[in-house]
Amino acid sequence: MKTIDEILAGYHDRSDLIDLLSEVQEEYGYLSEENMRKVEQVLGIPLVEVYGVATFYASFKLKPSGQHLIRVCKGTACHVKKAGAIEGAIEDILGIKDRETTDDGRFTLDCVNCIGACAKAPNIMIDDQVYGELTKEKVEKIIKEFK
Ligand code: FES
Repeated sequence: MKTIDEILAGYHDRSDLIDLLSEVQEEYGYLSEENMRKVEQVLGIPLVEVYGVATFYASFKLKPSGQHLIRVCKGTACHVKKAGAIEGAIEDILGIKDRETTDDGRFTLDCVNCIGACAKAPNIMIDDQVYGELTKEKVEKIIKEFK
């Protein structure tokens, strides 16, 4: 794993901001305030601007993910097969919304576009495993097995 200082050493220009934030997130899993302050110092970009970019793009996370990452596909194929109902079921079971983490740190919910399994829509992905052809009942059973 690279340290934050090793990552920062590869960037010197304001135009590198998105690439730099991407690499920091890839290495650390999220963008901490401490690391964004270091980005501010190295690139000479005000912290408010660094935060602005980090919060504008849905792919950046400002908090660490839970132990299990649940991705709900909201791509077109899943959308037409009622992905919204699947998302709602997960929200009800876990008490969290998109991009939130349960209080016990076990689950993070993340709505994404297409996870590449459209033929089995609607789909979710928990960690590296895809679950397809879901119904509310199936998704309840799957999540309960993780709990
Ligand atoms: S749209 Fe959901 S897997 Fe492609």
